[in-house]
Amino acid sequence: MTLASPTPQSPSTRLQFNEVQFKTAFPRQPFLMQHALCGNPLFSLESLIELSKRLPPSKVEYNAGTIDIDMHDKLTPQTGLSVEETMRRIETCRSWMVLKNVEADPTYRALLDACLGDVAHLSEPLTPGMRRHEGYIFISSPGSRTPYHMDGEHNFLLQLTGSKKVSLWDSMDRSLLSEKEIEAHYGGAHRNLSYQDAYAAKAQVFDLTPGLGLHFPVNAPHWVQNGPEVSVSFSVTFRTPAIDKRAMLYAANGRLRGWGLNPKPVGLSPLRDALLHNTVRGLRKLGSLTGR
Ligand SMILES: [Fe+2]
Repeated sequence: MTLASPTPQSPSTRLQFNEVQFKTAFPRQPFLMQHALCGNPLFSLESLIELSKRLPPSKVEYNAGTIDIDMHDKLTPQTGLSVEETMRRIETCRSWMVLKNVEADPTYRALLDACLGDVAHLSEPLTPGMRRHEGYIFISSPGSRTPYHMDGEHNFLLQLTGSKKVSLWDSMDRSLLSEKEIEAHYGGAHRNLSYQDAYAAKAQVFDLTPGLGLHFPVNAPHWVQNGPEVSVSFSVTFRTPAIDKRAMLYAANGRLRGWGLNPKPVGLSPLRDALLHNTVRGLRKLGSLTGR
């Protein structure tokens, strides 16, 4: 996929979009954009090692990077290395690592907020109420792979070092991603999905190199193949009331399906969605009042 020319902006702008493309494609379609974060010292190896020490251990996830595209229902293999060893040996240790919720650190929070500020002036007229700013930093060895999965946030993945090939699918194609799988995701299942080779023909493939970023539509299944160098990328994400409402509806449909019912897919009937949303909110409120 090729990149549309960005609209001329001030050089201090961190994220650079082609505004016409953004207004046409966001939030349903993937598209490439540019950013000016390459060379930022916050993404040097030493800074990232220090950050990994400041984050709670639960926010540092890492495992072997030489894994299958389909890791659904499989345990991801570990490497036996520590966090710091993994980062220092990232060039050769065939690992994949993510530092999660880096907004917990004030310096990274400031950068994340600045990036999302660049998004907000374009996204707010389309999907208002930007909230829950969250940042994730991915550090991975040459040739490592992120298995086929989906995410529930608005996401821009910014490539800082090395290259990645992202294969991405339409979140609305129910021949690839069933209502049941989406319901399971919002019911707390692991993000990895079941992959079939036949899906490849329907993928959109994006090549990410330093200075480029990619918009991932909410729920769009994807897997990622690293290039032949160490890769560092920064994922800037946010939520809106609209996607939080859909998340609640999918989780509720999953409960209904678990009780033997066959609920209408989310989005088919706005009236039914509104009634279910109000019911779930009412039950949650009641639960919080009664302490259940
Ligand atoms: Fe992802």
